[in-house]
Amino acid sequence: MAKTEVDLSSIPLGKTVTIKWRGKPVFVKHRTQEEIDDANSVNMQALPDPQDDASRVQIPEWIVVVGICTHLGCVPTTDSGDYGGWYCPCHGSHYDVSGRIRKGPAPLNMEIPEYAIEGEKLTIG
Ligand code: FES
Repeated sequence: MAKTEVDLSSIPLGKTVTIKWRGKPVFVKHRTQEEIDDANSVNMQALPDPQDDASRVQIPEWIVVVGICTHLGCVPTTDSGDYGGWYCPCHGSHYDVSGRIRKGPAPLNMEIPEYAIEGEKLTIG
């Protein structure tokens, strides 16, 4: 299976890049401490698909998600929506900075791909 490598040192704090992996977009977001704190302060009962942030990251500074809305498969836009993460304009799903669905018709959090981080190198796949 194809793997994709990303140089994390090229992604500034607070920025998100979109990588192509097996024909799909993958969002790699370099989270600020404020975003990490925000992701960890959520009441699990407020989540349609309850997952704590720690179970969705390997290193808190980096969230890596498959950039496909779990409703009907559109590609959400980055740094948008009511929760500062992603927004899917197709039918209005809002995702937070952990890629978790917070509002709208999508039933599930955005998927986490298989990946590894070694130093400044992210390998997806
Ligand atoms: Fe994203 Fe419907 S495909 S909200």
